[in-house]
Amino acid sequence: MQKISETISQVLNPETSTQEPAKTMANRSKSSLEGESVLHEYRDAQRAEGVQKPEDVQSNIIQFDKCLEFLEKAGKEYISPKFQIWKEDHLIIFKLLVYFYQDKPNAEKHGIDLHKGILLSGPVGCGKTSLMTLLRFMLAPKEQYIIKSARDITLEFIQDGYPVINKYSKAAFQQTSGELTPKAYCFDDLGVESNIKYYGNPTNVMAEILLSRHDMFISRHMLTHTTTNLSASEIESCYGNRVRSRLREIMNVIAFDKGSKDKRV
Ligand SMILES: Nc1ncnc2c1ncn2[C@@H]1O[C@H](COP(=O)(O)OP(=O)(O)O)[C@@H](O)[C@H]1O
Ligand SMILES: [Mg+2]
Repeated sequence: MQKISETISQVLNPETSTQEPAKTMANRSKSSLEGESVLHEYRDAQRAEGVQKPEDVQSNIIQFDKCLEFLEKAGKEYISPKFQIWKEDHLIIFKLLVYFYQDKPNAEKHGIDLHKGILLSGPVGCGKTSLMTLLRFMLAPKEQYIIKSARDITLEFIQDGYPVINKYSKAAFQQTSGELTPKAYCFDDLGVESNIKYYGNPTNVMAEILLSRHDMFISRHMLTHTTTNLSASEIESCYGNRVRSRLREIMNVIAFDKGSKDKRV
């Protein structure tokens, strides 16, 4: 498998990537140290251009067509050769871009709080995990989140016990330019861990982590994103009302339609 940075470079600069070694892993990490990624530069270039769009997806900050083009190319590279962007998903993707590009006017228009994280919900197979995986590539290294499945965290807890809760909450800090900064996580497929058989209740593990991250959001602006197939009421029956309301406090809900296409076929 190719190194991610090389492939991104090919996605964005197909004409230069074979001869031009400037965007190799080594160079990329150098540029990452300078706080810039290939995609960050790409994003800045887009910001500068600005373009007219149809009503719902109009932005002076996001060049939506270019973003869709990038996502489709990257999706074919990393997710599946059949990956394509569906028109019915445009608004969801636009909202996610509004959030990650910190497009204030559109955030206001679409009711997105740029200070919180994202809870991306929708039916199984509609493309939540794929989108969160691809959007991450568009962020500067210091803005990137770690994608970790709720199921894996729960299995880790069963093996290693209580330190796992701290690992993903109170102790989730990293050293960035001499400073301790909170690690942003995207907990993938919240709710599936409720199927794991364990003598304790496995959903408590994610509930504890989320409650603790809520405290850390208030005190240290620790960002949390999540994908889930659960509806709001299912979240409540799985984790309780307290967790559900805390989740609303730390994340913007962006929801695929119940009838969204299953992309697995
Ligand atoms: N836009 C898309 N076009 C084609 N296939 C897709 C697309 N999005 C996702 N897929 C495929 O569909 C499957 C389910 O996607 P995934 O992102 O895991 O869905 P979810 O997380 O919502 O359950 C994956 O195998 C993925 O390769
Ligand atoms: Mg998923």
